[in-house]
Amino acid sequence: MHLRTETADDYQEVFDLNYRAFGNREDESRLIERIRESADFIPELSIVAVENEMVIGHILLSGAKVTDGTAAHNVIALAPIAVHPDYQGKGVGGRLIEEGLSRCKAQGYGLVLLIGHPSYYPKFGFTPARAFGLELKQFEVPDEVFQVYELQEGQLGDIKGELRYPEAFF
Ligand SMILES: CC(C)(COP(=O)(O)OP(=O)(O)OC[C@H]1O[C@@H](n2cnc3c(N)ncnc32)[C@H](O)[C@@H]1OP(=O)(O)O)[C@@H](O)C(=O)NCCC(=O)NCCS
Repeated sequence: MHLRTETADDYQEVFDLNYRAFGNREDESRLIERIRESADFIPELSIVAVENEMVIGHILLSGAKVTDGTAAHNVIALAPIAVHPDYQGKGVGGRLIEEGLSRCKAQGYGLVLLIGHPSYYPKFGFTPARAFGLELKQFEVPDEVFQVYELQEGQLGDIKGELRYPEAFF
């Protein structure tokens, strides 16, 4: 299995993969399409896992903002991530997350935020975000589900305010 940046040739496979992984629903596949067409899309942060020339996993990280009064900080939102059902539980998701975080760090971003399962993401260093002065109002989720990862030391606690998911998420 290897990881690489998604190309336009992968779009159909990524659509089908997300459809399957999310229980035969299109919502996440359509979300990916909307993000790709938006200004918040960062091509290098759409990463596929490939085995035998088949796309078996995909992660998308894209631009979002944390706003605090007049200040707006550029951060990264992780969503969605999917691994083909036949390949789940083998570390592919973990590899995609680690590669995604490493690319975000290399691009100079400070924080990655997500809404996700509270027993999965902490394995990779995510921690509940509200404890650090980060808020989420667009979606009503429990504290442990709204999570953050600090890419650059000092950013957590420094960047405070409300996470605003862009239009593409709605
Ligand atoms: C979530 C997902 C991406 C994880 O990918 P993966 O390759 O199966 O994960 P890994 O092999 O790296 O990690 C497996 C670990 O995560 C746990 N895990 C997998 N999916 C989980 C989930 N939805 N919730 C909580 N834990 C989960 C497994 O129990 C396993 O734990 P262990 O390491 O303690 O045994 C994959 O299961 C998937 O595509 N699920 C359907 C889509 C989805 O729910 N995406 C996340 C929301 S955006």
